[in-house]
Amino acid sequence: MKVDVLLGLQWGDEGKGKVVDVLTPKYDIITRFQGGPNAGHTLEFDGQKYVLRSIPSGIFQGGKINVIGNGVVLDPVLFKQEAEALAASGHDLTQRLYISKKAHLILPTHRILDAAYEAAKGDSKIGTTGKGIGPTYTDKVSRNGLRIGDLLHNFEEKYKKAKARHETILKSLNYQYDITELEAQWFEALEYLKQFKLIDSEHVINNFLKEGKSVLAEGAQGTLLDVDFGSYPFVTSSNTICAGACTGLGVAPNKIGNVYGIFKAYCTRVGSGPFPTELLDEDGEKMCSIGHEFGAVTGRKRRCGWIDLVALKYAIMIDGVTHLIMMKSDVLDTFETIKACVAYKINGKETEEFPFEINDSIEPVYVELPGWKCDMTKMQSEDEFPEEFNAYLSFLEEELQVPIKIVSVGPDREQTIVRYTEE
Ligand code: GDP
Ligand code: IMO
Ligand code: MG
Repeated sequence: MKVDVLLGLQWGDEGKGKVVDVLTPKYDIITRFQGGPNAGHTLEFDGQKYVLRSIPSGIFQGGKINVIGNGVVLDPVLFKQEAEALAASGHDLTQRLYISKKAHLILPTHRILDAAYEAAKGDSKIGTTGKGIGPTYTDKVSRNGLRIGDLLHNFEEKYKKAKARHETILKSLNYQYDITELEAQWFEALEYLKQFKLIDSEHVINNFLKEGKSVLAEGAQGTLLDVDFGSYPFVTSSNTICAGACTGLGVAPNKIGNVYGIFKAYCTRVGSGPFPTELLDEDGEKMCSIGHEFGAVTGRKRRCGWIDLVALKYAIMIDGVTHLIMMKSDVLDTFETIKACVAYKINGKETEEFPFEINDSIEPVYVELPGWKCDMTKMQSEDEFPEEFNAYLSFLEEELQVPIKIVSVGPDREQTIVRYTEE
C-alpha cells in the first residue's frame, strides 16, 4: 500500500482538518508529518466543533490509529491540554495515538525565543504563532534539539544544556522573561506524555504499509508557507510540501500514492508577508465576515483576497497533486463577480511563473467570471450545482489541469460533495 498525502496549497487554513476527518473512514492510519501546535485544524460534526493542533484529524471516526510522525515538533504542555480536552469529551486516545521517538520537543525557552526573535525584528516581524516553532526546528537542524526518545535516557542533563544555551541567547537579546510556571507545567506534561505509545514510527508505518494497511498523511500549514518554496522569509520552518511527508514519516518517495491538494475558492493569509491578490476593500471584508476568517489558534484576523492561480499552479507542481479539493465555495455565494488571478505583471511584464520573490511590485492580472448568486450550503450533490458554479469549476480545472474531486459548501462534515470524476 501507499501513503496518500493531503496538503494545503495556499497559506494554510484551507480546511485540511475537515477533509481529513471526511476521508478517515477510507484509511487505517492517519498521520501528521510536520509542523506543530502552530496548526489549528477545525472539524465540525453533530453540532460540535473541535480544533486540533498537534493531534491528527483522524481521531473521531472509527477508532483509527493516529500517528504523530518524526517531522513534527511537539509542545508537551499544549499536547496535554489538547488530549485532556478530547478525553473529557469521550475521546480517550492513549491506546491509539502513537508518537514518534524522533519528533522534537518544543521547550519552554523555545517559545520565549520565538517571542524574543519577533520582538527583535520590529516592523519586519513574521507574525509567527508564537509557539516556538522556528527555534525548535533551528535546534533540530543545528543538532541541538531534544527528541521525545530522549525522555527515556539521561533527559535532565540534556534539558539543562539546551536551556543554558537558550538563556545565553535570550540574555544577548536583552529579553526579559519568567519561565518558572511554564517550566513546571512542561515537566508535568512530559510525565503525561509517557502514557502514550512512543514508537519508532518509520518502522511502524512501513510495516503497516507492508501489511496492506492504508495511510493518510495530513499536512499542516500550506505550500506557500514551505521553508524552501514558500514566500521566504515569511514562512514557517518546516517542509509543508509533499516531500515533507517522506522525511517527516520515513517513507520513500515511491511509497507516495494520491496527493490531495486543498484550496479555498478564494485565498487567505494570516501573519505578515506578501499576498499579491489581497483585497483591502469591501470584497475582502465580505470574505472575512462570511468566511469567519479568524485564526483557529491565535484568533487573528486572516487577510483575504481572490484565488491566485499562479501560486496554485506552482504549489501543484511542487507537490505533484493528483486530486484537487475546493473549500469554502459557499463564502462566494453572494458575489456578483468572481475574480481569479491568472498571471502576475512585474515591471510591466506578464508572467505565469511564480517568481523568486513575491513583493508589492506584483500586479495581479484577473479573469472575471459571473457569480452563482445562490445558497450552496444545503446542496448534497453536484447535480444541484448552478451553471455559473460549474463554469467556475471547469475554468479552474482547465487552468490547473487537475480534477477537482471534492467541493466543500460549509464547515460541517456533511457539507461535503464528492464529484463523479473518473479515477
Ligand atoms: P485547516 O488549518 O486547514 O484545517 O483550516 P482551519 O480549520 O484553520 O480553517 C478553516 C475554517 O473554515 C474552519 O473554521 C472550518 O470550520 C471552516 N470551513 C471548512 N470548510 C468550509 C466550507 O466549505 N465553508 C465554510 N463556510 N467554512 C468552512
Ligand atoms: P494550519 O495547519 C495559517 C503562519 C504564521 C506566520 C508563519 C510562521 O492551521 O493551516 P510559525 O508559528 O509557524 O513560525 O509562523 O506561518 N502559520 C500559519 N498560517 N495556518 C497555519 O497552520 C499556520 N501555521 C503557521 O501566521 O505567518
Ligand atoms: Mg488552521
